[in-house]
Amino acid sequence: MPSKVSCLYLLTVVCWASALWYLSISRPTSTYVGHMSVPIRKTVKPPKNITFTNIRTRPLNPHAFEFVINEPKKCESDAPFLVILISTTHKEFDARQAIRETWGDESTFSDIRILTIFLLGRNTDNVLNQMVEQESQIFHDIVVENFIDSYHNLTLKTMMGMRWVATFCPKAQYVMKTDSDIFVNMDNLIYKLLKPTTKPRRRYFTGYVINGGPIRDMRSKWYMSRDLYPESKYPPFCSGTGYVFSADVADLIYKTSLHTRLLHLEDVYVGLCLRKLGIHPYQNSGFNHWKMAYSLCRYRRVITVHQISPEEMHRIWNDMSSKKHLRC
Ligand SMILES: *[C@@H]1O[C@H](CO)[C@@H](O)[C@H](O)[C@H]1NC(C)=O
Ligand SMILES: *[C@@H]1O[C@H](CO)[C@@H](O)[C@H](O)[C@H]1NC(C)=O
Repeated sequence: MPSKVSCLYLLTVVCWASALWYLSISRPTSTYVGHMSVPIRKTVKPPKNITFTNIRTRPLNPHAFEFVINEPKKCESDAPFLVILISTTHKEFDARQAIRETWGDESTFSDIRILTIFLLGRNTDNVLNQMVEQESQIFHDIVVENFIDSYHNLTLKTMMGMRWVATFCPKAQYVMKTDSDIFVNMDNLIYKLLKPTTKPRRRYFTGYVINGGPIRDMRSKWYMSRDLYPESKYPPFCSGTGYVFSADVADLIYKTSLHTRLLHLEDVYVGLCLRKLGIHPYQNSGFNHWKMAYSLCRYRRVITVHQISPEEMHRIWNDMSSKKHLRC
């Protein structure tokens, strides 16, 4: 019996002690906060935002892939003016080579440093993976992550490019993302649009802006289901055939994508990230996203042209390079 009494006594003492302790710490704390609230108001976050941050740090769309071929030092020594990310597939050996030898040639401009990087995933055919590995050892311009390379996974490829720039080349000034069947008029891109002598822009994004909505016809290449995207309009987005942005945007888009449900249409998806970031893409009709028959004067006015075969790429490049002195 005495043990029960002493237990009860002990409990009472503990309760009182904790109540007293609570009162003693809560009072000075509240006066402390009240006293300090004027100078520290700006840095103390309201609880609302703390919850918001907690939700945001748990990725909805973790980009949980690893680089299996990488060029981590390509950018190290001196920051490039422009990084060109080219979405490509394993079999397009000729297209990559044509780009290396024409507009993607990193040594074209003596005063402007450009970097050309080809983006790939993993192929289900291991022979192709090995061929790409060999190609990479020769040219050191290929970056691969271990997601399955397919048309449906194009968004992952673009996000890999954003991640690469953000991680290994954050000091670059501008980035272009384009495809392997695009001809790029580099003179126009560099000197007319980006203007190396002017102050670098921030939160800048440009290309051929499309204001459209989802196509619900299942036969379309651009089909989008209501489940994945219920809204009737897309935010303005730049055609994936070629868009250009200040390099700070790469990190912003990559981080935003971690909290944005994945969509397989990469250009639409980038548009969704831009909307979240409050970055509005500028329209530039020089980014031609259709095929356009070659003529010297016509090609001199554009920044990109779509659907160019490797042979055409060489032909156009040679013609334009050899006729630099001609006037239109
Ligand atoms: C949360 O923080 C962001 C900036 O980090 C700010 O724009 C927003 O207004 C804050 N929201 C609340 C509810 O305080
Ligand atoms: C996309 O990549 C992921 C990760 O490798 C893979 O699980 C998925 O099957 C791929 N999707 C398609 C449609 O190939």
